[in-house]
Parts: sequence; structure tokens; C-alpha cells
Amino acid sequence: MKNMLLLTIFLFFLFGNVNSLLLDNNAQSTLQHDVDELKQTVAVLKQEVEKLKHPTVVAFLAELDGSYFTPTVGQHLIYSNVHLNTGNGYHKFHGTFIAPISGIYYINVAATVSEATSKTMKIKIKKNGTEVGYIFFDLLQAQWLKNRDAIIIHLTAGDEVWTEVVGISGGSQIATNFMHTYFSGFLINQD
Ligand SMILES: *[C@@H]1O[C@H](CO)[C@@H](O)[C@H](O)[C@H]1NC(C)=O
Repeated sequence: MKNMLLLTIFLFFLFGNVNSLLLDNNAQSTLQHDVDELKQTVAVLKQEVEKLKHPTVVAFLAELDGSYFTPTVGQHLIYSNVHLNTGNGYHKFHGTFIAPISGIYYINVAATVSEATSKTMKIKIKKNGTEVGYIFFDLLQAQWLKNRDAIIIHLTAGDEVWTEVVGISGGSQIATNFMHTYFSGFLINQD
């Protein structure tokens, strides 16, 4: 019996595989099963490591271009000068960001509006029609003024975020170009 065990160990070092172990069929198939399972686990772990090494990036920045203008109530702002659109979530013809994957996002909007003490402008950030952010200019400014709003929000893949003018008086104008008015955001963490 002792000789048999020594022979087994010797053969294992010599050939290094399960078949070389002089085990009975039962023990051999159990061992083979364990080895196969470990191989599968390692393959899954390799995939996970690759994912961690290359996290999904979603980031966009687009600004209003053309001439400054007076929008109308209900108008969606269309930021057609796209500076960055990694992940292709931003849609420049509609001014809408559509979350390509589910997760927590940071959304940052800035607007610059013309001076005059009798004018107002209200712009909301909306997610699928629900208000999630708000920028307003209220009668006070004596010069063109820039305001901004930044929010952190969970978006499910397919959710839509846009900016919409919800109130205006006195013919307020929105400034374009030079990063006066822009829409931006990025994925903080994928679900
Ligand atoms: C938001 O709207 C998009 C497009 O209509 C839709 O696919 C998505 O399911 C909506 N999300 C919620 C939470 O209603």
C-alpha cells in the first residue's frame, strides 16, 4: 500500500495530470469535475478583471451655437456644437441625452441670459418629462448673467434627459458659443 502511494506521487510529478494518478474511477471523475469547475471560475474571473481594467465611459459636452436668440416657452434647447460624446448618449438633433446604460450620472447645465431688469427666464432640466433641475434668472440682473445647475441622478438605460425653457418674459435672450450655454454630464457608476 505504501509503495502504491509513493508510485502514485512519483507518477503525478512525472506527468502532472489527473489521469496519471492511480485513482479509482470514482475519485478520478470527482477530481476531474473539480478541476473543470476551477477552470470555469478562472475564466469568469478573467472576464471580470478585464471589465474592471476597462470601465465603461459615458461623457458628453455640447453647447449652443449660432446667434443668440429669444426662445419660446416649451422649447427644448438644442446644443448642436458637440465637443465630446463618448458612449454616444447625446443626440444633437433633439438636444437629448439618452442614457446608454443604467447607473448614477452627474449632469451639469449652464445658461447665459441677456441683461435687463424687466426680463426673466426659467429653464428646467427634465428626465422623461419630470423636473430634476432648475436654472432661473429673475428680473434682477443688470448685465448678461451665467447661472448653472448640477445634479446627480440615477438613470435607467433609455431614460431621456433634456433642458426646456418653461418661462420667459420681456424677450430675454440666450447667449451662444464661447461656452455661454451648455449641457454636459458623465456616468459616475454603472449599476
Ligand atoms: C423614459 O422614456 C423612455 C423613452 O420613451 C423609455 O424608454 C423609458 O422606459 C422611460 N423611463 C421611465 C422610468 O419611465
